[in-house]
Formats: sequence, C-alpha cells, structure tokens
Amino acid sequence: MVTTAGLDIVQVSASDMDNFSYLLYCPTSKVGAAVDPSFWPERLLAEAKKRGVTIEILFNTHGHRDHVAGNAAILAETGARLAAHPLDVEAADIPVSDNQTFKLGEGALTVLHTPGHSPGSICLYTGDALLTGDTLFVTRVGRADLAGSDVEALYHSLRRLAGYPPGTRVFPGHDYGPVPASTLAYEQEHNPYLRCPDLASFIRLRLDVS
Ligand SMILES: [Fe+2]
Repeated sequence: MVTTAGLDIVQVSASDMDNFSYLLYCPTSKVGAAVDPSFWPERLLAEAKKRGVTIEILFNTHGHRDHVAGNAAILAETGARLAAHPLDVEAADIPVSDNQTFKLGEGALTVLHTPGHSPGSICLYTGDALLTGDTLFVTRVGRADLAGSDVEALYHSLRRLAGYPPGTRVFPGHDYGPVPASTLAYEQEHNPYLRCPDLASFIRLRLDVS
C-alpha cells in the first residue's frame, strides 16, 4: 500500500488472468473508490470492509470484460456510482472526460483519457501515482490489435504518460511484469515500447510487422 496525497492505494489480485483491481481511499474520511473489479469483486469488497472504507464511485479503466465483470457485484453491495468513459462503457452513471477531477474525502484523482488499447481507455492520476489500466504495464503496453484499438493513439497516450515525473508510481491493470508495480523511471529504462524513438518503430514493435 502506498499513500499518495491523501489517497491510499491498495492493489488486489482479481482474476486468474492476472488482473489487478484497486481500492483508492482517503485515510481520514475513509471515502473511497474501486477500480476494475474484474472476476473476483469480493476481494475488493473485503479490502474495503477490512479498512472501513465506503466505496462511493466505481471506475472502469476501460470496457473489456476482464475489467468490468465484477461491476454488478460492487454496485449492488455498495450503491456506488459507475464512472467510465462513454466510448467504452455506455451505461456509466458518470460519463468521464479528460482531465475530470474527483474528490474523495481529502484526496482527489484526475481522469486522463488515454485511447489506443480501446477508444475509451482512461488512466487515473492521484498524488504521485498513475493507475494505467491496459495502457501501460510493467515492461509492456496494452494490445493494439483488438477491435477498437488504435496503435497510433496508443503511442501518443504513452508519450503523454511518459511526460509525468520520473518518480511517478505505475499501477497497471495486469500483473504482467517482473514486479507488480513500478515507476515511470523504471519503465523508461526497462519498457521497450517506451524506448521506441518514433511512431514508426513503435508500430513495428507493437504490431510485430517488419
Ligand atoms: Fe483490455
């Protein structure tokens, strides 16, 4: 667990597909948000209950099944409102947009619209931390060959993330790397997709074309 500007971050293993869910909360007020409940939403609920956290908002980083499968369970149990980008999740109570900020008790987070893996992919920024969904993983990045993917948009979204301070912590949507979380400095050194010098080389690497 990492404390970032009023919001604590709890990373939760959430499926046998290496998904991560997250609980974000203000340690003072215990007001919180859940992110991507995946297939084991009971784990998120247990983490919230253990800490006395009230989940007021449920975020989806994007609309893929392995991230939203547990939405109904979380919403039914908590009465939270669902927040997601309308390009990926049409039924959201709160259709989010780029740079939208949400207060959670004494802390806050900001939504970054980061299309590429999917049209409505978002990242969440709080304190010194980025929750990167399927846009950026430890030493990898999201697929860009799926229906709705856009490899050029993914490149530009990653360039945007790479512009945050090097010490920014990275909390990905899957446990695909040698460590469950990292920093942008770590990714700049170890992630070959962030080391591509230009769009053309990124497209070649990501789509594996010669
Ligand atoms: Fe995905």
